[in-house]
Amino acid sequence: MAALDAILNDIDTDLENALERLFAFLRIPSISTDPAYAGQCREAAAWLAGDLTALGFATSVEETSLHPVVLAHKPKPGAPHVLFYGHYDVQPVDPLDLWTTPPFEPHVASEEGRKKIVGRGSSDDKGQVMTFVEACRAHIAMSGELPCGVTILVEGAEESGSQGLPEWVAANREKLDCDVVLVCDTTMWDRATPAITSSLRGLAYFEVKVTCADRDLHSGFFGGAARNPIHVLAKIIADLHDADGRVTIPGFYEGVRERPAEVLEQWRGLGLTPEKLLGPIGLKEPAGERGRLPIELVQSRPSCDANGIVGGYTGEGTKTVIASTASAKISFRLVDDQDPQALARNFEAFVRERIPADCSVEFITYKGSRAISLPFDMPQLGAAKAALAEEWGVPAVTVGAGGSIPIVGDFKRILGRDTLLIGFGLDDDRIHSPNEKYDLTSFHKGTRSWARILTALSQG
Ligand code: BES
Ligand code: MN
Ligand code: MN
Repeated sequence: MAALDAILNDIDTDLENALERLFAFLRIPSISTDPAYAGQCREAAAWLAGDLTALGFATSVEETSLHPVVLAHKPKPGAPHVLFYGHYDVQPVDPLDLWTTPPFEPHVASEEGRKKIVGRGSSDDKGQVMTFVEACRAHIAMSGELPCGVTILVEGAEESGSQGLPEWVAANREKLDCDVVLVCDTTMWDRATPAITSSLRGLAYFEVKVTCADRDLHSGFFGGAARNPIHVLAKIIADLHDADGRVTIPGFYEGVRERPAEVLEQWRGLGLTPEKLLGPIGLKEPAGERGRLPIELVQSRPSCDANGIVGGYTGEGTKTVIASTASAKISFRLVDDQDPQALARNFEAFVRERIPADCSVEFITYKGSRAISLPFDMPQLGAAKAALAEEWGVPAVTVGAGGSIPIVGDFKRILGRDTLLIGFGLDDDRIHSPNEKYDLTSFHKGTRSWARILTALSQG
């Protein structure tokens, strides 16, 4: 096995080529939620499979009920075996006019002396996936082999709630046999401080459509007499929170635990003030539950957001209309033991109670996921932390995250395996937003970090 120094040096000297490979991946608009891009999702899977095959992995592209997964194996008898998971699908790009360069024309730009890779998927998650692939490439280039056995599973529907993946994982358990799962789809604590993510929030997602009259109406003929579905829906959304910012759906807080005083004290010590959290996005006053630390609001407390609302006339100029229908997308971030199915029942009852006699309501309930938290006594944690500290020169912090990665809970339930969540994204990466970027240091030092982690894990 080549010395780690030679492998790290190879990563440094090969950086330009690694960027070209990442750009090829980023140019493919693999937007999973929009059926119009199904072909591009397939193309992204094929691109990655080609790259992994060239590295000597036994690779296949396998069908699921939505987009295909890429599965690649490189066993190493006698060594620990890791399963790496990531996603090749990306979020839609709209609003397109807010991008300063086209989303699928990746390039390196400089901002305040920092170099950044700009493009949809650069941080979430193609850039992060490639940190692991490039680390494997360097190991193989320098020593002809990997220090551990490696299986790579990269899916194409994470941004659509990993639709179809749990069923595929359950049907292919034996191909996913491993000691530990590694995921690169989270953030660092800040630009200088690596992080191991210890918890993820769960998600429940609904669409609600309210119908009143059987057609759009002239508001001069009917205004004042006919029920307006936009008002009905707006009232329901307004009712979801009380004056203290708590969610009012009966049973909503069941399964939510309070953090012990010591933990809250430690969080207070991290100094994440409202100004620090909200300043960079042009806000300063925390909304949501009163009396909670900002870090609690985005990590250990559940939340509820309307993600979109439509109804009536929204074009240029005016139209005096009372719409027949109004609809909204409403989602909840879940923590601890909150049950997405119980919430679905309670939410539906909450909405139905508020639908006037003359009106009707339709629901779409998307597949939810529970929150997960990782055990603090995972045997691999020490090795990963030591490797990260070596690379970054400071200890890695262990913190929760507010986002969701639905399949992580299934890895535990179906495979019985815990996950190490180690990502190199930053809070200002604008994931899901226009002008998504990934710092060049995230990509470069992220790759070096995985090279070190693989070696550290192989040493037990
Ligand atoms: N990578 C993110 C989740 C994430 C980001 C976790 C930063 C921790 C820190 C992931 O791709 C994502 O966006 N997940 C969705 C899941 C949903 C579409 C089912 C989310 O959290 O909204
Ligand atoms: Mn992601
Ligand atoms: Mn995402």
